[in-house]
Amino acid sequence: MLQDKRILLILTGGIAAYKGLDLIRRLRERGAAVTPVLTRAAEQFITPLSVSALAGEKVYRELFDLTDEAEMGHIQLSRSADLIVVAPATADILAKMAQGRADDLASTLLLATDTPVMVAPAMNVRMWTHAATRRNRDQLIADGITFVGPNDGDMACGEFGPGRMAEPLDIVAAIEAHFAPGPLTGRHVLITSGPTHEPIDPVRYIANRSSGAQGTAIANALLRLGARVTFVTGPADIAPPQGADVIAVETAREMQDAVTQALPADAAVFAAAVADWRVASASDSKLKKSAYGLPVLTFAENPDILAQVAQMQDGRPGLVIGFAAETDDVIANATAKRARKGCDWIVANDVSPATGIMGGAENAVTLISADGADPWPRMAKDDVATRLAGRIADALS
Ligand code: CTP
Repeated sequence: MLQDKRILLILTGGIAAYKGLDLIRRLRERGAAVTPVLTRAAEQFITPLSVSALAGEKVYRELFDLTDEAEMGHIQLSRSADLIVVAPATADILAKMAQGRADDLASTLLLATDTPVMVAPAMNVRMWTHAATRRNRDQLIADGITFVGPNDGDMACGEFGPGRMAEPLDIVAAIEAHFAPGPLTGRHVLITSGPTHEPIDPVRYIANRSSGAQGTAIANALLRLGARVTFVTGPADIAPPQGADVIAVETAREMQDAVTQALPADAAVFAAAVADWRVASASDSKLKKSAYGLPVLTFAENPDILAQVAQMQDGRPGLVIGFAAETDDVIANATAKRARKGCDWIVANDVSPATGIMGGAENAVTLISADGADPWPRMAKDDVATRLAGRIADALS
């Protein structure tokens, strides 16, 4: 089941580290290659010698282990794996991951990677239920990190409750589920997301309020179904989907180029809020107040990326999905937009300020296809994404 899978296993310092040894054994029994990384605190509980003996590979312990020319750099080490597993994961490593800190080898690897990450927390029940750990867990889930456990049970510290690390076989089952083929395994889906920035001069730009939340959630949902995802994103603060091929762009024209490069795809989802216009007279040097007074900007139309892909003669993706953000006559406008652009589906939503959808956690959409308008109940953006990914999987099956 795990034949030829490369797992980077990060063991952090907790009493459950001894179960990490069993985890290595179980993974190797199933054919996985395990590259172990130990934090300093983990070495208080288990020895590098026993870890490397079980893994059959060198143990990486310090950032300077990687400075030798013959060794892999930390970027390469973190990216050469198919999956990174942190087991046990202490409250401390979760906090570092949530904040993006990189002050030792383990945290640096986790920050430098675009490989999917799974964590198996292990800590005292009060640490697990502390508001700070809850916050960190929520942040990490939003960042696309998968959690296994912790379980309820008697703990080494004498207390009872949630915080005990999941059993090695449960972690193995979660790892196998991660690699199990999904309905979109072998399929390539292209997604655009976020806003675009259109320069006025080298320091100023025109932008919009898109957060990229819905596009990111769709990417994560498609990845969970096994799709290979290319994620073309404009400048957004939200963490990009873990495990996608991420292409960061700024302008609509850069987004168009990235989309063209990323094709062919089985399906393409255009969730980006692309600026309809760019400044035609963008200046190469900063506009000086003294020299210009009030500048007059002239605009040029940006390429309509969705329409272009939807109307491709050769190599059009089998399913092309656009979004329509409307404030009036939502269904009529979105239905007309679907016909005008030539896409298969339009996900329409009402972004009137009264709905609170723009910038909020929820969305109420209507899926418009050749079959007509299908209104979905208002739900979390993550649930919209899961449902849309399911529909895409059905359509491609
Ligand atoms: N889109 C695109 N390229 C553009 C503009 C829009 O790919 N240059 C895509 C968006 O990603 C989205 C859909 O087209 O999927 C939105 O269409 P658009 O015409 O931009 O909608 P509105 O901005 O709502 O347009 P209108 O002003 O006509 O309502």
